[in-house]
Amino acid sequence: MLSRTIRSVLTKTNKCFVNRTFTNCAPRFSGNALLEHVDTDDNRSELPFDFTPHYWEEANKILAKYPPHGKQSATVPLLDLAQRQCKGYVPIQAMHKIAEICGVPRKQVYENATFYAMFNRTPVGKYHVQVCVTTPCMLRGCDEIMEALEKHLGCKNGETDSEGLFTLGEMECMGACVNAPMVVISDYSNPPNFSYDFYEDLTVESAIEVLEKIRRGQKPTVGPQNGRPNSLGPQGRTSLFFDKGSEVQKPYCRDINAQPENKEQKK
Ligand code: FES
Repeated sequence: MLSRTIRSVLTKTNKCFVNRTFTNCAPRFSGNALLEHVDTDDNRSELPFDFTPHYWEEANKILAKYPPHGKQSATVPLLDLAQRQCKGYVPIQAMHKIAEICGVPRKQVYENATFYAMFNRTPVGKYHVQVCVTTPCMLRGCDEIMEALEKHLGCKNGETDSEGLFTLGEMECMGACVNAPMVVISDYSNPPNFSYDFYEDLTVESAIEVLEKIRRGQKPTVGPQNGRPNSLGPQGRTSLFFDKGSEVQKPYCRDINAQPENKEQKK
């Protein structure tokens, strides 16, 4: 009932919502593709997996941070390590190895790997483009951006383009709603060094331009793509004014030694 009411209100306020409802939203894709595992030639239980000597060194540093009875806490950092060794995804045999190392049931590792969207359970392209599809981004046109990127890359949400360069996916709110719509692009082109950048205030044109810059080997400017600084509104800064000329500029509320009179906002 609630979702029907919300949908009815949103449908009246933005046409992009018309084709999308809380009940017929596509399942979350991203690099995880499906939520269930499907065996492939290089991603199945029967295959052996081990960390290389270099990664074992790193794994041991991680494990040393936890007491012997708390090794399960290393699950997430070890998944990250496996993803780096495997150049951008965690095959199921790596999850089983991590379960063995941490002394936990396999399903506990599956739970972590499926909960955190930054873990890919199937191979992805060099760049993983994930469009935020949560409500604020939806209201600001994420569906049009997804549709345009699908058309531009020639692949669907959850798929990789023919060059193996971009994988298209979707993500839930990444906390940049004030700069909606936005995408996050995970750069797996230089393993084991990965980066995750936000591109915000997008239009269909600027979203495509970001991808084309990457294709040309350029580094697009991260953050807002419409020229505004950070998340400032059209009226400019309206809060968090700092002392002019002070060496360290910080909100007064963070200066625990400040005298009450210094706490007044100065314009
Ligand atoms: S809804 Fe897209 S960043 Fe929050």
